[in-house]
Amino acid sequence: MTTSTSSPAASSAAPFRQVTVALAERSYTVHIGHGVQRLLPRVVSALGARKAVVVTARPPEQTPDPKVPSLVVSTRDGEEAKDLAAVTDLCRRFVEFGLTRSDVVVSCGGGTTTDTVGLAAALYHRGTPVVHVPTSLLAQVDASVGGKTAVNLPEGKNLVGAYWQPAAVLCDLDHLTTLPEREWRNGLGEIARCHFIGAPDLDGLPLLDQIAASVTLKAGIVAADERDAGLRHILNYGHTLGHALERATGFALRHGEGVAIGTVFAGRLAGALGRIGPGRVAEHHDVVARYGLPTALPAQVSVAELVELMRLDKKATDGLTFVLDGPDGPGLVPGIPEDTVSATLAAMPREPAG
Ligand SMILES: NC(=O)c1ccc[n+]([C@@H]2O[C@H](COP(=O)([O-])OP(=O)(O)OC[C@H]3O[C@@H](n4cnc5c(N)ncnc54)[C@H](O)[C@@H]3O)[C@@H](O)[C@H]2O)c1
Ligand SMILES: [Zn+2]
Repeated sequence: MTTSTSSPAASSAAPFRQVTVALAERSYTVHIGHGVQRLLPRVVSALGARKAVVVTARPPEQTPDPKVPSLVVSTRDGEEAKDLAAVTDLCRRFVEFGLTRSDVVVSCGGGTTTDTVGLAAALYHRGTPVVHVPTSLLAQVDASVGGKTAVNLPEGKNLVGAYWQPAAVLCDLDHLTTLPEREWRNGLGEIARCHFIGAPDLDGLPLLDQIAASVTLKAGIVAADERDAGLRHILNYGHTLGHALERATGFALRHGEGVAIGTVFAGRLAGALGRIGPGRVAEHHDVVARYGLPTALPAQVSVAELVELMRLDKKATDGLTFVLDGPDGPGLVPGIPEDTVSATLAAMPREPAG
C-alpha cells in the first residue's frame, strides 16, 4: 500500500510529506519537504552503514552529510557523463575507500546523477544500498523514485541499466531554490502529465503537494508493476511525441517541454479516436497551459519526421503506439493508423517561426 502523510519534521517546523513505495522487503520512504536532507544521518544509521560514499553534483555547502566516515566524490550532472566509464570510475573509488555492501552510497544531483550513481550501487558487490538526494524537480518527481537506473551508450540513451530500488529518497525542496527556469519547466512537464494518469487535481496546490502527489502516483504504479510488465507504461503519457520532439529539435526542447506538447497531442489523438470527448481534449491543453508550458509544435519540425521518429519508439511493437486516455482511464493503444496520427499532428497549433 502506498501512503502519503503529513507529519511534523523532527528537525524543523516546515511541513513535509512521506510517501511509501510498497515493495515488500524492498519498501522505502520518499521524504519530501524543505530541509529533509537533514534526515540522512538517521537513514544511514537505520541501515547500519558504517561508511558512506557521497557522490555529489552540488557544491559542498549543499551536499548532505551522512555523519559517518565518508568519501565525497564530486561529479557533474548531464547526459555526457552518464556512461559506463562513469560507473567504472565510481566503483573504483568505492573499492579504494573500502566500501562494503553493508555500507551506503548517496547520490546528490539531477536525474543523470541519480541514474548513474544508482547503477553503480546496483552493480557494486552485486548491490549496495543507495540513498538518493535528487536536486532537480524532474529528479524529485520522477527519476529518483522507482528503482530504474541506467546509463547511455553512444548508440542511444538509457540502453544499459538495472532495477535497483533505493533505501530512501530525500526530496529536499531547498535544492530547488537554485534551479534555473528551464529546469523548472522540465519538471513541471512531468507533473502536468500526472493529471491524466490518475493524480488528483493538482491545480493551484502548493509545490510540496504537487511533488508529493506526483511521487505518490509513481509509487503506486511502481508498487503494482515494478519491472515494466504493463501498468508502468502509463508513466510514458505524452512521451511518445515528447521523445520525437526532443530528437527532432536536436534536444533544444527540454524533456518536460516535449512531454507537455506530447500531452496536449495525446488528448487530441484520444479525441480523434473517439476515446474521450471534446471537454477532456480541451482539459489537456488547459492543464498544460496553466503550468506555463508549451502547447504548440515548434515551427521547424515536419509532421513526416515526427511520425518517422515515433515509429522508432521502444513501445511501438505494433505500428504506432501511444498511451492514451479513454473511457476506462489511460492505457497503451497499439496499431493506431498513421493517417490519424499525421492528421492530428498537422492540426496542432504551431509556434511562430523565428
Ligand atoms: N530512472 C528513471 O526512472 C528516470 C525517470 C526520468 C528521467 N530519468 C533520467 O533523468 C535524467 C534527467 O534528469 P534531470 O532533468 O534532472 O537532468 P540533469 O541531471 O542533467 O539536471 C538538469 C540540469 O539541472 C541542473 N541542476 C540540478 N539540480 C540543480 C539545482 N539544485 N540547482 C541548480 N541547477 C541544478 C543540472 O546541473 C543540469 O544542468 C535523464 O538522463 C533521464 O533519462 C530517469
Ligand atoms: Zn519523462
